[in-house]
Amino acid sequence: MKQAIAYQENAGGIVALLPDGRVEFLHPAIKPLAERMVRGELAPGDVDFDEYILTDPLVDLENFHLSAPAIAFIETTNLCNLKCKHCYAWSGKKREGELSKAQIIDLIDEFAEMGVLQVFLTGGELFAHPNAVELINYAMTKPFSTQVFTNGLLISEEKIAALTPGVSFFISFDTANPTRTIRGKMDFPMLRQCFEWFEKYGHAYRTAISVHRYNLDDVEEIFEWCARMGFPRPQWLETHPIGRALLHPDIVLQPPDIDRVFDIYRRCMDRYSEAPAPELATPGEVQGRPQERLYSVDTIKFCQRLERATGREKCGRSVVYVNSVTARFISVISSRIQVGVSSIPKCSDESRVRSSGAGLRPPWTRPARFGLLPPIAQTPIIGPRRPISSAR
Ligand SMILES: C[S@@+](CC[C@H](N)C(=O)[O-])C[C@H]1O[C@@H](n2cnc3c(N)ncnc32)[C@H](O)[C@@H]1O
Ligand code: SF4
Repeated sequence: MKQAIAYQENAGGIVALLPDGRVEFLHPAIKPLAERMVRGELAPGDVDFDEYILTDPLVDLENFHLSAPAIAFIETTNLCNLKCKHCYAWSGKKREGELSKAQIIDLIDEFAEMGVLQVFLTGGELFAHPNAVELINYAMTKPFSTQVFTNGLLISEEKIAALTPGVSFFISFDTANPTRTIRGKMDFPMLRQCFEWFEKYGHAYRTAISVHRYNLDDVEEIFEWCARMGFPRPQWLETHPIGRALLHPDIVLQPPDIDRVFDIYRRCMDRYSEAPAPELATPGEVQGRPQERLYSVDTIKFCQRLERATGREKCGRSVVYVNSVTARFISVISSRIQVGVSSIPKCSDESRVRSSGAGLRPPWTRPARFGLLPPIAQTPIIGPRRPISSAR
């Protein structure tokens, strides 16, 4: 169990990742307790967070931004053992001026201080980075939830054994038939081996499939294969037309594919949502018995709620992706966040706490004068990607 919760101060209250994986708006009265957790004087398990949940925080939806990202991706390297056709990061070779280990450590510190709730360590291939284990273990010391994206092929038992138990892995593959892969290489025995090591050393894991035109017909088979093997249900990602995928427009899903994509998506979710360990774990919760103690980390759902309420894609700041190219903007973002934090209006006494029994509306329901936004799945102008994401 983590010693502290990840939280950030926002207009309307404190947004926190709770020990059970929920992301909620809390009454500011939680702050002294949260600080005591940081100092190690109080354990998260000793606090009844439900008492502090704001069901209807007073927020100016038109101008609301999180004071820090809810989710941060750190591209630790662009070096990769594969050169997948669809790779948005165009990975393979290192980028010029890649982030140094010290810079990545600084970023991790900065994200923790800002109150980022969930950090994805990604690449390129993280396990191609000489300091992969050290970086993951450093991130695991922080209150945020640490997730690792990997293709799994460079993993060894030694590396997995050296990690602090409770890392959450996304391990990517894209076909049930290795001869049809666009990833360059597939290695099912290695994949299974990784899963065994994750379980043996107390880590959570989940597969990730980037769905594209050439594996759309494989997707149900992949879900079925995972279920048969007792592996977690895959995370469905749609292949976006960016990075190297632009060189291969034939792989990207097209408007005529939409109906089929939805049908397949729905069938996969209907049939396989009950597959073992479908969700990610909060670090520290899985040691010993990973399958039984997993629960979801609701950061993405939280961001979607925010999008729906504010009507703004990613609500300005809910997600950040940092690599050597974008890192130079981070100091600018940070300074804005500093300003934002100092000018955050205090949560008024009128803010309602769930225990008071008042206000059961979900946070950020739009004021009546703006009208309720239609659920994302019914928003026609957004195209096919959002409905799929919203239902994950
Ligand atoms: C860029 S990779 C980095 C981590 C690791 N090398 C891997 O493949 O898992 C992160 C995830 O993004 C997915 N991905 C890559 N390009 C994508 C694209 N154009 N659209 C959607 N997902 C993509 C990959 O399949 C993988 O699941
Ligand atoms: S998707 Fe992952 S494995 Fe494939 S090239 Fe990109 S970074 Fe490498």
